[in-house]
Amino acid sequence: MQQASGAGASPSHPLPSYLQADHLGPWGNYLKQVDRVTPYLGNLSRWVETLKRPKRILIVDVPIELDNGTIDHFEGYRVQHNLSRGPGKGGVRFHQDVTLSEVMALSAWMSVKTAAVNVPYGGAKGGIRVDPKTLSRAELERMTRRYTSEIGLIIGPSKDIPAPDVNTNEQIMAWMMDTYSMNTGEAATGVVTGKPVDLGGSLGRREATGRGVFTVGLEAAHHTGLKIEGARVAVQGFGNVGGTAAKLFCEVGARLVAVQDHTGTIVHEGGLDAVALLAHVASTGGVAGFPGAEKLADEDFWGVPCEILIPAALESQITAENAPKIHAKLVIEGANGPTTPEADDILHDSGVLVLPDVIANAGGVTVSYFEWVQDFSSFFWTEDEINARLVRIMKEAFAGVWQTAQEHKVSLRTATFIIACTRMLHAREMRGLYP
Ligand SMILES: NC(=O)c1ccc[n+]([C@@H]2O[C@H](COP(=O)([O-])OP(=O)(O)OC[C@H]3O[C@@H](n4cnc5c(N)ncnc54)[C@H](O)[C@@H]3O)[C@@H](O)[C@H]2O)c1
Repeated sequence: MQQASGAGASPSHPLPSYLQADHLGPWGNYLKQVDRVTPYLGNLSRWVETLKRPKRILIVDVPIELDNGTIDHFEGYRVQHNLSRGPGKGGVRFHQDVTLSEVMALSAWMSVKTAAVNVPYGGAKGGIRVDPKTLSRAELERMTRRYTSEIGLIIGPSKDIPAPDVNTNEQIMAWMMDTYSMNTGEAATGVVTGKPVDLGGSLGRREATGRGVFTVGLEAAHHTGLKIEGARVAVQGFGNVGGTAAKLFCEVGARLVAVQDHTGTIVHEGGLDAVALLAHVASTGGVAGFPGAEKLADEDFWGVPCEILIPAALESQITAENAPKIHAKLVIEGANGPTTPEADDILHDSGVLVLPDVIANAGGVTVSYFEWVQDFSSFFWTEDEINARLVRIMKEAFAGVWQTAQEHKVSLRTATFIIACTRMLHAREMRGLYP
């Protein structure tokens, strides 16, 4: 359980004055990923600076009255990284460690992701620097509503569409939708995705990211000859993404041998019951104390023997320090940005195949796209239709990434960036610069 580490600036990047070169955080990791793709962009590389600076950053003060009558202020962000291919799209994170660098990086990875699966969006992200567990439900609602009002200047169904991320859920989306609707005077269901199904949400959205992780995992296993039945799975983060992915892998015969979350690390060589563990997390708030499991020191999680490792918590978790301990065959990035560029190289050299976030966790934004389309047309699809369309898009996107990786002899991450950045910069070039 490690905090996001800093990443040094590369001298090739002129930095805006609001960033510190010696502590670029996740944004520094993203810039290094852009450096790696640039040689493959051909003539479009003349536009590459577009990718190295967000189009728009909004920093807001979020004041609320606490239940005890005092006033507290929270730091809020909404960053729109790239809008060349369509409106902004990306989650909202409530976490005490949220920083501008983090939200910038997350918004950029959204641009890459939406382009990689070819849904008609740009990339955006938002966040509030708060530990929501310290707030009452009423305080959480007031904070969410005030934040939504503050960023209301730049969001909207055809401008920028938020969704859930770490510590935000359907209830938060319902409050965001209601606040925006009250302010604009119309029932704007399309302003956020990940809403409750009774409020214009989509069937299958809650499980979509985990289902996407599972789908690309199966595809990669197929390409590499890894047998899923009996394969050992270790998961960091047992929330929406990690919990769903673990459950789906268990349903096809894989064995969940280790889980880590913010409450600790548990292991059981014989296999943890994913469904019972989900119920335990729902009632206690974390995996710690799950009956029948053994407790493990957090730092030993990465060395647990397994075939499939799924980081599904926060960014910069797999680093140069712990990457040498990883002997999995597949790392499937459920989280955004869990692997630093240095760790990426170490895993590559030791033959671990990394399925990068920008394709592996794109299932969420894909079904968010379906939700948005359903809201606009006011016509809703069945869960089977949604899952079938999701699986088709994920498989097609993965096949393209796999082929590009073979063609250029690059990692799956660089291959995904090649496809996505080409789409984004081609759109940029076709639109031209205004005025
Ligand atoms: N929800 C989505 O649709 C979606 C889509 C794409 C990507 N993601 C990414 O997936 C990741 C998880 O998101 P989520 O929606 O499942 O969030 P969530 O809030 O449902 O779950 C987060 C999980 O991470 C764990 N965690 C938090 N801090 C930790 C730490 N320091 N060490 C170990 N575990 C820790 C929590 O205990 C929890 O189990 C994030 O990186 C998010 O950006 C989410």
